[in-house]
Amino acid sequence: MSRSAEDLADSYPKGFLSTNTQIKNSNKFGGEISIANCSAQSLANKYGTPLFIMDIEDFKVRAGAWQSELSKHFSKSKCFYAGKAFLSIAIAKLLKDLGYGLDVCTGGELAVGLAANFPASEIEFHGNNKSEVEIKQAIDANVGIIVLDSNYEIERVAKIAKAAGKVQNVLVRLTPGVVAHTHEYISTAQEDTKFGFSIASNSAMNAIELIEKNENLNLIGVHCHIGSQILSTEGFELAADRLLTVLKNYKDKYGKELTYLNLGGGFGIAYTEGEKSLSPKDVIPRIAKRIKEFCANNSLAQPMVLLEPGRAVVGPAMSTLYTVGTIKQVQLEDNSKRTYIAVDGGMSDNIRPALYEAKYQALVANRSPKLNEIEGSARLVGKHCETGDILIFDQEFPSDIKVGDLLLIPATGAYGRSMASNYNHITKPAVVAVENGMAKQLLRRESTADLLALEVDEPAAPLK
Ligand code: LLP
Repeated sequence: MSRSAEDLADSYPKGFLSTNTQIKNSNKFGGEISIANCSAQSLANKYGTPLFIMDIEDFKVRAGAWQSELSKHFSKSKCFYAGKAFLSIAIAKLLKDLGYGLDVCTGGELAVGLAANFPASEIEFHGNNKSEVEIKQAIDANVGIIVLDSNYEIERVAKIAKAAGKVQNVLVRLTPGVVAHTHEYISTAQEDTKFGFSIASNSAMNAIELIEKNENLNLIGVHCHIGSQILSTEGFELAADRLLTVLKNYKDKYGKELTYLNLGGGFGIAYTEGEKSLSPKDVIPRIAKRIKEFCANNSLAQPMVLLEPGRAVVGPAMSTLYTVGTIKQVQLEDNSKRTYIAVDGGMSDNIRPALYEAKYQALVANRSPKLNEIEGSARLVGKHCETGDILIFDQEFPSDIKVGDLLLIPATGAYGRSMASNYNHITKPAVVAVENGMAKQLLRRESTADLLALEVDEPAAPLK
């Protein structure tokens, strides 16, 4: 990477387009789009649509910016990329080269990390209901950290570590009682949640006591994750304070200190024009101030600070390219008109609008569209047999939009491909990485043969 660490955080791209997205002959509806000097049209020709396009340099810049800003404020710190946002072997390898740790929350995500030869010591294993098999996989692989989420799990991890003759480093996931200002389904640190141990109700200190009693568990610190797509900093500051109070209580009770403070991820991004991502510079200096003040006032050593950005790293780096398949106008009850523009993907490659009412913006990607817009409202929908299969509820589209046009939806990198489904036996799109005019597939498009390969035609057998 040619840019210095300082530059990375200073020039953090806050908009909804990936850094290397260029639009020739553009107007507000789009134009001839290229990403990292690969034109949308040639990508569609070669790989088909729907297609996820990853701007690799953009990914590196964002990842580097979070890491560099964090290390500027703390002598000991590390970013762990949240693999749930989007993970593939190539991405895990890239993260390793960038000096990131990897946050996984299932055996499947762990398997991708291990297949990429990601150093197990830099892998952190999350999840609110890890199975015994997953815990054993993690311990056998020597993962650096397991994050404990329930009393059952404390016993389970201890038992499996004991059987393996190991002492496992663990963090305890805490619920700081912070209500994150985001969609209810992606808010995780209020009291009423399945995640972690409540600080307020003392279940946190009880869990810590249980862990401390166990000689196969080595408690090194505390963790929280207050939610996702958060665009203000207060929640992170408040969470830091509440976790630090636990570190203080721990010191008072046990006469020793916990050295890790993990504040999770959740940093929000821009999805449409005019919105602004939360940048490392917006949030890290504020958290740092709180942590330093608290430690100084309470005679605590400064902990090693961990963050787990997922969306903020991969979200804006990836876009989805679709082809328009049909256009239909309907008359609404109030006599106004609505135009339905249908593309060749939908809720199977982006469930976020249906699940969280997430907003996106589509751009014409293959040509310079007319400046006047379709009369009435226009809605971008997918090809699934479901009325709720809506990608964009209401957006202005150019009046000359036509079948065969390419549409690009930016900022689909996080939780797009990773939450993709095969609803209606649709095959999951390919993911193509672009950089300096070159393109390569990270994940190929699924084929119908992949789907049919799961079918089993066997005689029924009695159960034992
Ligand atoms: N750390 C932990 C423990 C998490 O549970 C998550 C996300 C992250 C880090 C990363 O959060 P991020 O930086 O990506 O916001 N499917 C939802 C998001 C669910 C997030 C789950 N946990 C969506 O599409 O908005």
